[in-house]
Amino acid sequence: MIHRQTSFETRLVRAGWEPHLQEGYINPPVYRSSTVLYSDVASMERSQADPLRRDLPTYGRFGTPTSRAFELALTELEGGYAAVVTCSGLAAITTALMAFVKAGDHILVSDSVYTSSRRFCDSLAAFGIETEYYDPRVAGGIADLLRPNTRLVYLESPGSTTFEVQDVPAITSVCRDRGVVTIVDNTWATPVFCRPLELGADVVVHSATKYLTGHADSILGAIVCTEDTYGPVRSAAIRLGQTAGADDVYMGLRGIRTLGVRLRQHHQQALELARWLQEQDEVSQVLYPALPGDPGHELWRRDFSGAAGLFSIVLNPWYGKAEVDAMLERLRLFGLGHSWGGYESLIVPADPSAHRLPGSWQEPGIVLRVHVGLEDVEDLKRDLAAGLRQLSQDCCSELAAV
Ligand SMILES: Cc1ncc(COP(=O)(O)O)c(C=O)c1O
Repeated sequence: MIHRQTSFETRLVRAGWEPHLQEGYINPPVYRSSTVLYSDVASMERSQADPLRRDLPTYGRFGTPTSRAFELALTELEGGYAAVVTCSGLAAITTALMAFVKAGDHILVSDSVYTSSRRFCDSLAAFGIETEYYDPRVAGGIADLLRPNTRLVYLESPGSTTFEVQDVPAITSVCRDRGVVTIVDNTWATPVFCRPLELGADVVVHSATKYLTGHADSILGAIVCTEDTYGPVRSAAIRLGQTAGADDVYMGLRGIRTLGVRLRQHHQQALELARWLQEQDEVSQVLYPALPGDPGHELWRRDFSGAAGLFSIVLNPWYGKAEVDAMLERLRLFGLGHSWGGYESLIVPADPSAHRLPGSWQEPGIVLRVHVGLEDVEDLKRDLAAGLRQLSQDCCSELAAV
């Protein structure tokens, strides 16, 4: 473990580093393994004695030196006790939730969570677990929503698509007093910009598919725990058969080494583009907490040290689906594709009202989610400017034809 006093930049480079265990090579080998051979029965029995299968090698699904290095690195960066790698970000979320719930429980989930997280929470009804969605801006008001059977509160900050920043310390302090577990999706910020465990959370989940891996070339997830939450989470991961491919884990570890420089560049470029978009006639709103004036700006300034390259824009309500689709198809640098957190710029239509509590999203204009990649920001502006100009022209010619 690198000393806590070391600067975060140094920790990004060195976290989980164990060259002395690998003949001096700085990166761990990629262990593609299932079977572990023992020299005798006693050592086989010793390795199986730990129900959490933590330290001694037993079987590939329980981890290898490659996954151990990734888990160690992320644990150090998030300031946790231990981490569990999973095959995807969604698997990290579902495993973390399953670690704590049982039939008869009630869970509170932010209304702004990633759609697939929401679908999983909805599916828990089949197992007798009730999910209630709360306003992401609830802050300390979460106290009024807790019931005697509330087991956990799930947060994602900022929220998917609409980017509301949650008051994590206010929520976690209420929950801690009432013995309610808090789980935070920290995919957007990564530990470079926010460390929810330091804000009182019990568990942090990541889609490492995004910035941690950073090159759009793997699917990976991770759960970082405190000492109290590690046992239930690791045990759930074992029962659910969680594991991750050796190459994906390696990509995650490799991505961490350059996470700081990449994220700073995403931040700078996204902020510049977001400010520019605010001035465009076609755009009615930019949803990005790094912008002064955004409803989450003050909380973001308090709890985050930077902003990722992902935000949304709301177009003026008079642009229809056909014209917006045509604009998206004409963009040259912004690819029409899901996911985010890679080096490339992406844009997708994202309708928040399709998966929110009825009435909670009232904006009439079409919403586009934008990921600002590492291309030259002036080129990106030119690409969007051409698309927006075309959008206006298409709209004008349609009006003229009426
Ligand atoms: C905020 C957030 N969390 C989790 C996930 C799920 O990640 P994965 O695709 O790695 O399962 C996503 C995917 O887009 C996401 O945006």
